Amino acid sequence: GVLSGRPRDLAGRHVVVSAGGTREAIDPVRFIGNRSSGLQGLALARTALVRGAGVTLVAANVTLPAPAGAEVIAVESAREMREAVLSACRDADAVVMAAAVADFRPAEYHDNKIKKTSAEPDPIRLVENPDILAELGRRRASSGEGPAVIVGFAAETDDVLANGHAKLKRKGCDLLVVNQVGAGLAFGTPDNAAVVLSADGDAVDVPRGPKEDLAHRVWDLVAARLP
Ligand code: CTP
Ligand code: CA
Repeated sequence: GVLSGRPRDLAGRHVVVSAGGTREAIDPVRFIGNRSSGLQGLALARTALVRGAGVTLVAANVTLPAPAGAEVIAVESAREMREAVLSACRDADAVVMAAAVADFRPAEYHDNKIKKTSAEPDPIRLVENPDILAELGRRRASSGEGPAVIVGFAAETDDVLANGHAKLKRKGCDLLVVNQVGAGLAFGTPDNAAVVLSADGDAVDVPRGPKEDLAHRVWDLVAARLP
């Protein structure tokens, strides 16, 4: 808008943002989850709206309100997120997978609450979830389908750059926002710091600051890559 000082460089574009963290149900009351707050995804949705985009927000267990004007699809599990993201991406120009997607889910769901007994508890066997980001990359590579710009996020605790470069390749995305977690950064905090790696070899350092600032930097890089 007028007060933001930013161009409406995403006007006429449709972007898909995933936010939050998936929950993988064990029984009706328990799940396997993660510490993602959804703040970075919400900041991405908000800033894309400011820059004129139509925004579909696929929100997994995000407690804060979504920005007005976004189309919100609420999901719980990785498999629900996959359905929502793939369907929203059919006519999207860009997708940013900011959500923390569970790599694994319990192999079986107990219809009734698991009871505490005097016997040894059963172990929870896990199976792998679909990798949504990798699937978006594969689909585009094989058929040209889906968004022109695909962005992933990665939280790394060590060998941040080496792990990031390898992950970018593996996922077939255009940009990978690598943030270092731990040390009071990222989870649940208003600030973030990251290196944005690109498939063409660039690395843009975004120093610690509001998640909103990182979001704008991501959209700068996305806008530059839109056909
Ligand atoms: N992602 C996804 N589907 C999954 C797992 C991850 O779409 N099942 C996406 C995330 O939303 C993120 C990116 O892939 O944008 C990287 O997630 P990350 O967990 O860092 O990558 P993994 O390949 O799962 O590697 P690892 O957890 O072993 O570091
Ligand atoms: Ca993972």
